[in-house]
Amino acid sequence: RLRAAHGLSWLTAQTGDHPSRLLHYPWRDNPYPTYRRLRAQGPFATSRLGFRTAHTYEAVSTLLRGREFGVRPPTPTPLPEQFEVLDLSFLVLDAPDHTRLRALARPAFSPRRMAGYRTEIEKTTHELLDAALARRDFDLMRDFAQPLPIAVISRLLGVPEADDEQFVRIGYAIGGALDGVRSASHLRRIDEAAAELDVLFGRLMAERRADPREDVISALVAESDGGALTPAELRTMCRLLLLAGFETTVNLIGNGVMALLRHREQWERLVDDPGLAPGAVEEVLRFDSPVQMTTRWAHTETTVQGRPMRPGDYTMCLIGSANRDPDRFSDPDRFDITREDASDHLSFSGGAHYCLGAPLARLEGEIALRALAERLPRLRPAGTPTRRGTTVVRSLSGFPVTAGSL
Ligand code: HEM
Repeated sequence: RLRAAHGLSWLTAQTGDHPSRLLHYPWRDNPYPTYRRLRAQGPFATSRLGFRTAHTYEAVSTLLRGREFGVRPPTPTPLPEQFEVLDLSFLVLDAPDHTRLRALARPAFSPRRMAGYRTEIEKTTHELLDAALARRDFDLMRDFAQPLPIAVISRLLGVPEADDEQFVRIGYAIGGALDGVRSASHLRRIDEAAAELDVLFGRLMAERRADPREDVISALVAESDGGALTPAELRTMCRLLLLAGFETTVNLIGNGVMALLRHREQWERLVDDPGLAPGAVEEVLRFDSPVQMTTRWAHTETTVQGRPMRPGDYTMCLIGSANRDPDRFSDPDRFDITREDASDHLSFSGGAHYCLGAPLARLEGEIALRALAERLPRLRPAGTPTRRGTTVVRSLSGFPVTAGSL
C-alpha cells in the first residue's frame, strides 16, 4: 500500500506545525537549502516527534540498496492507518510478492520493447511540437511535458486513444495521492477515482482476454489467467504502471527544460550538440529529481554510518538531498550537462525497487530534450513557472514559453 502522507508526516515532524498549513510551506519551492542544512547535521536527523530523515548520498544509498531494509514494516507489524491509502502493487511490497510481481511486469521494459517504443515516442513528440510551433507561445507543461508521457504509457499499456481523456482525468485524481492525503474529502476523491480506474481497466482486460494484442495488458491478462497473479494484483499493477507513467517523466521534462533555460549556456551547448541529450537527462535527474524522497523500514538490526537501527525503525530517504551531496558530486549545485558521474544519482532509487521504468523514462527524456533543442533552438521562458503543491514529486503545473523568432 502506498506510503502516502510521507511528505506531510515528515514536514509535520520537522516543524511541529499543522499539516494543512504545510501544504504551502515555503521551502517547497526550493528544498535544496533545507537539504544543505540537514546534511550539515550529519547523515541522519531525528525530529522532535521522532521522525528520522537520511540525507547524505551514502546513507540514502545504503538504505535503498541494503537487504536489511524494506518498503513495509517487518512482519508482523501492521502498517499504521495513515500509510494505507492506495495499493500500488509491488512498489509497496517486499519479497517474495515483490519479486514475483516485478518479474511479471519486467518484460514490458525489455530492450526489444524499448526499441519498439522509440518510433512511437518520436512520432508523438514531433506531433506535439508541430502544434506548439504553430502557436509559437505555448505552455511547456500543458502542451508538451504532460501529454507526451501520458500518451506513451497509455499506448504501452494498451489504453485506446478514445479513452485517453477519462484515463487522464482519473490518473491525475489518483496521482495526487503519491504526495499524501490532505483531508477526508481528498481521500474520498482518491478512493472514488481508484474505483473508477478499476472499472475502466476491468473493461479493457475483458476486451483483451477476448481479443489479445501486442500490449502490456494483454500479456498480463494471460499471466493472470495462468494463475501467476490474482485479478486484484493485476488491477493494482496496471494502476501502478499508469501512475508511474503519469507522475514522473512529465517532471523530468518540465524540470529539465526549466534548468536548461535558467542556465542558458547549458541550453546553448545542447542546441549546438543535441547528441548531449542523454547526459543532459542524467544531470537533470541528479540536479532536480522528479521524485524527491522515499522511505524504508529496518527489518534487521544494523548500523548505517555509525547510526544503530532496530527492526521497525522508519526513515525518510531524501533522494533530492543525496544527489546534491558534495561528498559524492563535486560542486553539486552546479548544473552541468557534461558532468561525467551524473548518472550515479539515486533518482531511480536503488536495490530491489530500482525504477522498472528507468529505460523508458530515459528514452522519453532524451527524445524530448533532443527534439526541443533541434526544433526550438530559441526557446525561452515567457512567464514564471508555477509549481504544483506537491512535496514527494517535484513538479511544475505550468511553464509559459515561447519558441521565439524562427
Ligand atoms: C519505482 C522514480 C519513471 C515505473 C520507482 C522508484 C523511484 C522511481 C524513485 C522507487 C521508489 C522506492 O524505491 O521506494 C522514477 C523517476 C521517473 C520514473 C524519477 C522518471 C523520470 C517511471 C516510468 C515508469 C516507472 C515511466 C513506467 C511506467 C516504476 C515502477 C516502479 C518504480 C513499476 C516500482 C519498482 C519496484 O518497486 O520494484 N521509480 N520513475 N517509473 N517505477 Fe519509476
